[in-house]
Amino acid sequence: MCGIVGYVGPRSDDTALNVVMEGLTRLEYRGYDSAGVALVNGNGVEWEKRAGKLANLRNALDEAPLHASATAIGHTRWATHGGPTDLNAHPHLGGTTDKLAVVHNGIIENFHSLKAELLEAGVQFRSETDTEVAAQMLARAYDVTGDLYAAMTSVVNRLEGAFTLLAVHADAPDRVVAARRNSPLVVGLGEGENFLGSDVAAFIGYTRNAVELGQDQIVVITPDSVEITDFDGNPAQGKAYEVTWDAAAAEKGGYDTFMEKEIHDQPHAVGDTLLGRTAPDGSLLLDEMSISEDVLRQIDRITIIACGTSAYAGMVAKYAIEHWTRIPVEVALAHEFRYCDPIVNDRTLIVSISQSGETMDTLMAVRHARALGARTLSICNTHGSTIPRESDAVLYTHAGPEIAVASTKAFLAQITACYILGLYLAQLRGGSFAEDARTVMGQLAEMPEKIATLLGTMDRVKEIAGFMADTRSVLFLGRNVGYPVAMEGALKLKELAYIHAEGFAAGELKHGPIALIEPGQPVFIIVPGPDTPHDLHKKVVSNIQEIRARGARTIVIAEEGDTDVIPFADEVIWVPQAPPLLEPLLTVVPLQVFALYLSTAKGLDVDQPRNLAKSVTVE
Ligand code: G6P
Repeated sequence: MCGIVGYVGPRSDDTALNVVMEGLTRLEYRGYDSAGVALVNGNGVEWEKRAGKLANLRNALDEAPLHASATAIGHTRWATHGGPTDLNAHPHLGGTTDKLAVVHNGIIENFHSLKAELLEAGVQFRSETDTEVAAQMLARAYDVTGDLYAAMTSVVNRLEGAFTLLAVHADAPDRVVAARRNSPLVVGLGEGENFLGSDVAAFIGYTRNAVELGQDQIVVITPDSVEITDFDGNPAQGKAYEVTWDAAAAEKGGYDTFMEKEIHDQPHAVGDTLLGRTAPDGSLLLDEMSISEDVLRQIDRITIIACGTSAYAGMVAKYAIEHWTRIPVEVALAHEFRYCDPIVNDRTLIVSISQSGETMDTLMAVRHARALGARTLSICNTHGSTIPRESDAVLYTHAGPEIAVASTKAFLAQITACYILGLYLAQLRGGSFAEDARTVMGQLAEMPEKIATLLGTMDRVKEIAGFMADTRSVLFLGRNVGYPVAMEGALKLKELAYIHAEGFAAGELKHGPIALIEPGQPVFIIVPGPDTPHDLHKKVVSNIQEIRARGARTIVIAEEGDTDVIPFADEVIWVPQAPPLLEPLLTVVPLQVFALYLSTAKGLDVDQPRNLAKSVTVE
C-alpha cells in the first residue's frame, strides 16, 4: 500500500528523477491513485504531484520540467486519510519555507492528537493527510536541531502506527533520511549512489545488493554511505541480502499485461518452489525450517492465517495437510483471527500465507499468535519482508516478483508450498502417509509440465470471455479442493471484471444458492476427477444436471477423458489428469484466464483494478 522510492547519486543531471520515476513505475502496483516526486537541488526543494495514475505525474513533469538534481524521493499512493487529490498526494512539505519534503507509507494512528497540537501552535495544513503531520513535525524539529537526522529521531518516537517516512531537506542536498516502523523499507547499495524502496523492485534495474531495514530503524543514505541506527540513535544493523531475480523478471516480457505474463509464469512458479526440497534418497528437505523436529512432532493443531487469494490457498492446504498428517487444520482470515479469542498454545503451528509478507492483517495475526505462545511458520514470496522476519520459520515460494494486483502465480506457488509442508510433516511424524511423501513429490514434479500444456489450450476460454462481456453475474461451484478454487475463480472475476461473482461448495447448492439459478445464468463447475474418493465426481455431475435443468449455462472444468460431463455441459474446458488433491494447480488456471480476458473484453485495467492495492499494509 503506497510505494516509496528514494535516490542519492553523484551527478547533478536528470539521474535522480529518472531513477525515482522508474522505481515508481515498478512500484505502481502498490497504489495508483496519485503520485509525486520531490527533488533537492540548487533551487531548494522542487516537487510535483498529481492525482490519478503515474502517467498524470509524468505528463505534468513533461509540461513543466523540474531542474536537475542528484537527490530525489517519490511516492505512489493508495489513499487512506484524505481523498486521492493533487493536494493530498505526496510529497508533503513541512514548515512555511518549503525546504523539507516527506513521503510516507502507512498510517500514523495518533495523527488527530498530533495535528491538534500543531494547529494550536499555529501550523497551517495544506492537506487532509496524516502524513502532513509528520512533515510539519519534522520541519519544526529541524528548526530546533538544524539537522535532518536529529529531527527524524525526535519525531519518530512520537508517532504511532505504521510508517515508512522518507525526508529530504534543501539544506542537506546530499542525503535522504528515512525511518521505518511496521511498513517495509529496503536499501539498495550502489557505487557512488544509494537507493531506498518499499521493495527491491524499486531499484532492481541498478543493483541487486539490498539491505532490509529492521523494525524501528532510521537510515541515512548519501552517495557514499548508508548509516543505520535505532530510533534512539544507537548504531544498528540491517539485514543484507542479494536479490536473486533481475529486472527482466519484473517486466512484461512481451505480454500485454503483467497478469497475462504471470499466468504464463505459473509452470516455473510451481517448478521453482519445488526445487531443492528433495534429498538424493527422495525424502523431503526444508532448509529454511527452523522449528525443531521435536517441536513439530508435538504439534496438535495447525491454524492457517491469510487474506484474499492466500486464504484460498490455505483452504486447499487444509484438505491436503489433514489428509496426509491427520493434524486438525483450521483456516482463519487473518483479520478475524485476532478478534475471535483464538485457541492457540505452544502446540499450535500457525502457518501464515502471504505473497507480499507485508499484509498488515496477517502480520498482526502472526504477532498475536506468537504472543499466545504458538510456533509460527510463514509461507511467503517476498524475501526479507516483515512476516517471515517475524516468524519462527519460513518456507519461501519461488514465484518471482508478482506485479499484477490480482494474484495468480503466487497462488499456485503457495499451494505447492503447502503441499510440501504437509508432506514434510507427514514424513516427520510417521503415520500411514509418511511413505507416500515421495510418491506425491513425484506427482508434484509432473505438475509444471501439465500446467504448461493446459496454458496452451486456452483459446476457447478467451472466446467464452469475449462473448460474456455483458454478463452481470457468474457463479462458481466446486467440491473438496475444488471449493476454494471456485471461491478463487469468483474473487478473480470481482477483482478484474467488477461483476458479481460467487463461489459455492457444490453440496451447498440445494441449501440456498440454487434459488439464484435462472435461464441463462452462467455457472462454472469444477468437477473432481473420476478417481476422487467418496463418489464426489458423480455427485458434482448430478449438481450440473440440477442447475442445467433450471436453465443455467454450464461451463464445466473437467479432466481430460471425463465423458460423463459432456451431456450436461454447454462448454467443457478440459484439464490434464492429476491426483485429486493436486487438481487445484490446474483447475484454477482457466478461471484466471477467463477473468483476465473478460476484464480485457470490458476494456478494464487488468493489472491495476480500481480500489485495490497489491499489498494492503493497513488494517
Ligand atoms: C490484497 C490483494 C490480493 C491478495 C491479498 C493478500 O487484497 O489485492 O490479491 O490476495 O491482499 O495478500 P498477501 O500479500 O498477504 O498474499
